[in-house]
Amino acid sequence: MDEMPSATARRWGPPLSQIDPALRALFTGYLIVIGIGLLMSFVQILLTHGMADGRFGLSVTDIVYSYYGNREGSRLEAKLQGSMKLMASTHDRAEIIKWVRAGSPRDEWDSHIRTVITANCTRCHGVIPGIPDYTRYDGIKSVAQIDEGATVPTLARVSHIHLFGIAFIFFFVCLIFTLATGIPSQLRVAAVAAPYVFLTIDVFSWWATKWVPTAAYLTILGGFGYAVSSGFMIFTSLYQMWWPMRSPSTTPGPG
Ligand code: HEC
Repeated sequence: MDEMPSATARRWGPPLSQIDPALRALFTGYLIVIGIGLLMSFVQILLTHGMADGRFGLSVTDIVYSYYGNREGSRLEAKLQGSMKLMASTHDRAEIIKWVRAGSPRDEWDSHIRTVITANCTRCHGVIPGIPDYTRYDGIKSVAQIDEGATVPTLARVSHIHLFGIAFIFFFVCLIFTLATGIPSQLRVAAVAAPYVFLTIDVFSWWATKWVPTAAYLTILGGFGYAVSSGFMIFTSLYQMWWPMRSPSTTPGPG
């Protein structure tokens, strides 16, 4: 009978501290490039989503704006809080804003809102050339457009690219890390599973945020989770390849 190999002996390759120099060069190059790539993706998130609320730095509002949209963001509402504020009573403005946030439905326009607009706005909008004509639904519809965030086709596209791409990137990061030694078994398993768990949470949260803005916290949790887990694996792997220490696999253990 063959000797039953211990769990460590059954790893798919040698411990990182004893790895073949060519493989060490390959793994090092890969991990460093992926590490830089992850930093770049963080910079990119700051510059795109991070600026969604007009301020630098990623906040929950940014994520909500990116996926749920800024539903107070129509030009009509902005103007009603701004230079057109004095054109209607507080009550009438509230009516118009409520209608805009509901998506400016045609039936409410016909039944009710047209009257409010006619009473307050059409003595100019419909008369003065060069400003939008609010005597017609089509004229007001264009300024009543709200930003509903990412569309379903966009989400589907970004999701599948993200899932495939990131799963692939992390596969090798994790695979290299499995050759690290001296890490408690449960921590190894958790570290390797973490990027996949957080990736799923991240992508799920984009869809959820489209309907429930508070799900934006899950996006932050997801991003934070794979930043920490990949940072840990990349750092540990590089460290063990280049600064090998006494590791349990080189000192015969009791088991
Ligand atoms: C006394 C005339 C007058 C009245 C009344 C008036 N507006 Fe205006 N509105 C203007 C002028 C002039 C502009 C263009 C200058 C500007 O953007 O401030 C304008 C611009 C706007 C814009 C921006 C349009 C664009 O394409 O950028 C919106 C939206 C708007 N008005 C909404 C309203 C609403 C809603 C009411 C009624 C509650 C109203 N206005 C009543 C004169 C008026």
